[in-house]
Amino acid sequence: MKNGKYGFGIIGLGMISSFHAKAIGCLDDAWLVAGFDMVPGRAAAFCKDKEGVVPYDDLDEFLKNPDIDIVTVTTPSGAHMDVALKAMEAGKNVIVEKPMEVTVERIDRLIECARKNKVMLSGVFQSRFNEVSRLVKKAIDEGRFGKLTLCDAQVKWFRSQEYYDSVGWRGTWKLDGGGALMNQGIHAVDLLQWLCGPVKSVMAFADTLGHERIEVEDTAAAVLKFDNGAIGVIEGSTAVYPGFLKKLEICGTRGTAVIEEESLKLWKFIDETEEDAEICRKYVDGVEQRGGGGASDPASISFTGHARCFADVIRALSTGTEPEVTAQEARKSVEIITSIYKSAATGLLVAL
Ligand SMILES: NC(=O)c1ccc[n+]([C@@H]2O[C@H](COP(=O)([O-])OP(=O)(O)OC[C@H]3O[C@@H](n4cnc5c(N)ncnc54)[C@H](O)[C@@H]3O)[C@@H](O)[C@H]2O)c1
Repeated sequence: MKNGKYGFGIIGLGMISSFHAKAIGCLDDAWLVAGFDMVPGRAAAFCKDKEGVVPYDDLDEFLKNPDIDIVTVTTPSGAHMDVALKAMEAGKNVIVEKPMEVTVERIDRLIECARKNKVMLSGVFQSRFNEVSRLVKKAIDEGRFGKLTLCDAQVKWFRSQEYYDSVGWRGTWKLDGGGALMNQGIHAVDLLQWLCGPVKSVMAFADTLGHERIEVEDTAAAVLKFDNGAIGVIEGSTAVYPGFLKKLEICGTRGTAVIEEESLKLWKFIDETEEDAEICRKYVDGVEQRGGGGASDPASISFTGHARCFADVIRALSTGTEPEVTAQEARKSVEIITSIYKSAATGLLVAL
């Protein structure tokens, strides 16, 4: 830490790294120290317009920089583990992009390494930090929905063939770990399980319907049974033109909330409170969407969510507590999605 600020370093300087840089830049108690990419010259290009930020083409040299307290990992999903292990072995706290890795076994290796090296390991699920997600979570915790009955998530997005063709790792099992669910749908899967989970079992179909030359699914649907008895459906696709905002429907015997991105489409309870009218005014009628939520363009998201996520890690480090998105938390959506893939491949119900 320097001058009361946590130093950040970014590994993997592609599309999402610029969102990380902006998020770090808007936090009072954080500064961007350095960037590393395995492609020579990419770090120099990334740092060119960022005064004082040091570019590295060598990971060991990057990790020797004593000003880096927190490393964010933004390499392709199946290339998170190797660099994150090295960073933690070098004593750095690590924030890993979603999905934390592409299998639970690889995530378990990360968790074990963090424990051994006594560093913090956390994931990125920025949707958990928006105001609407937190309102729904609070209402569930207070029992306002009664008994949860149907809890669904829909991520009907559009990605062109060029999107998959443009970068070699997209649409591969090894580095993307899956398709419409593991890459795009995972934020909704995480929110659904955070709000209504744990998930007990899944039954699913998955297929590649709208793209060529990809190994993974671009369309999937799963029926879930939750531990609390509720039933749910997850639908995910990157083959739905023009692409729609991410939607969650949380329905119970005493109330329903329909979330669309960061707004509410419905907020209705048998036992209404005075606060409900204000919530409807603010979030059902009054919310302006920040960006397109990634529905048809991966870059049409806001960096605000990442800033909230990083601020929470800083809060946890400075108070000696856990971050909200611990590695154990980040593991849950990967377990659900890999179970969905297993069910789709075998035609069997898969228990988690
Ligand atoms: N939280 C979100 O909303 C969000 C949004 C987009 C992407 N992501 C995640 O961020 C990650 C990166 O996605 P992207 O779209 O930025 O990918 P990208 O292909 O644009 O960038 C990846 C970068 O990592 C570099 N790289 C690859 N292997 C490396 C290694 N071993 N060491 C160092 N650098 C390496 C590549 O050269 C490239 O510059 C993925 O895991 C993705 O799921 C998260």
